[in-house]
Amino acid sequence: MPNLKVKVGRLELQNPVMPAAGTFGYGEEYASLIDLNRLGAIVTKGISLAPQEGNPPPRIWETRGGMLNSIGLHNVGIEQFAQQKLPVLRRFKVPVIVNFFGFTIDEYVAAARRLSALEGVAALEANLSCPNIKAGGIHFGSTCISVIEITKKLVKSTNCAIIIKLSSQVSNIKEIVLAAEGEGAEAVTLINSVPAMAIDLDREKPVLGGVTGGLTGPAIKPIALKAVWDAASSVKIPVIGAGGIMDYRDAVEFLMAGATAVQVGTANFIKPTTMVEIIEGIDAFLEQRGLKNIREIIGSAQL
Ligand SMILES: Cc1cc2nc3c(=O)[nH]c(=O)nc-3n(C[C@H](O)[C@H](O)[C@H](O)COP(=O)(O)O)c2cc1C
Repeated sequence: MPNLKVKVGRLELQNPVMPAAGTFGYGEEYASLIDLNRLGAIVTKGISLAPQEGNPPPRIWETRGGMLNSIGLHNVGIEQFAQQKLPVLRRFKVPVIVNFFGFTIDEYVAAARRLSALEGVAALEANLSCPNIKAGGIHFGSTCISVIEITKKLVKSTNCAIIIKLSSQVSNIKEIVLAAEGEGAEAVTLINSVPAMAIDLDREKPVLGGVTGGLTGPAIKPIALKAVWDAASSVKIPVIGAGGIMDYRDAVEFLMAGATAVQVGTANFIKPTTMVEIIEGIDAFLEQRGLKNIREIIGSAQL
């Protein structure tokens, strides 16, 4: 059997496959559909200090080659997460990565501090890239200065591994990942959804309740691959790739482009068993090629 183990910062994962934040609920929702213990890690939906109602419906809209969403980071807030959601996740043996966000830098720091004090939180993924909220989100991840400021404060205020999640919609992805690495981030995740929208011809109005949203799924895969390629050639810390991964071949492309691990999002809505199939597919792919260790294909697509 090929060795699929990877290291993401201080986390040791049994394989590189994990859900993308916000597409897998709090994890427990999928426990009856797949064996969560097969995953490399569990990634929760984005959590904030206080509960959030999110945006008005419709929040999800299918497009050609992808999906639009405008959830607006609806979540139960940290306290309810700590009391009701995390205890369920502690029963599984895979590391739990908590995705989180704030509307100000102070809120990010306060949320990180509180979350890192909770038993069973292995790492924190800071969402600096959400296109669906009016304040915060993507604004914090778009410039080097803000990435430096926020990463520095997050690393200082917690004992947890900090992963910085970024958008492809930035001026210079290489400089931004270098900024995150320089301030002590243990990994970066690329990419979040791509700002997008749809118009309802009959109503002559935007389709989404939140007016604009984020595009995900196969339509964004080439954009995500390029971001991962650029990031992986710039930093030494692991890059976690996300964006349009629907099967093991997509996942292998991301690994070859330099991702150490991959996140699967939109595919979970279509087929909840996708991640397990991807793990099995990577395993079979390595075996067919006579490769013993997944490390042999990470970043293998060199010029
Ligand atoms: C319904 C939905 C909710 C999402 N919520 C979050 C979130 O809370 N935090 C976050 O960082 N990314 C969030 N994302 C972005 C995904 O984690 C992922 O980066 C994106 O969907 C690209 O992967 P995919 O094409 O495989 O879906 C969300 C995406 C979708 C579709």
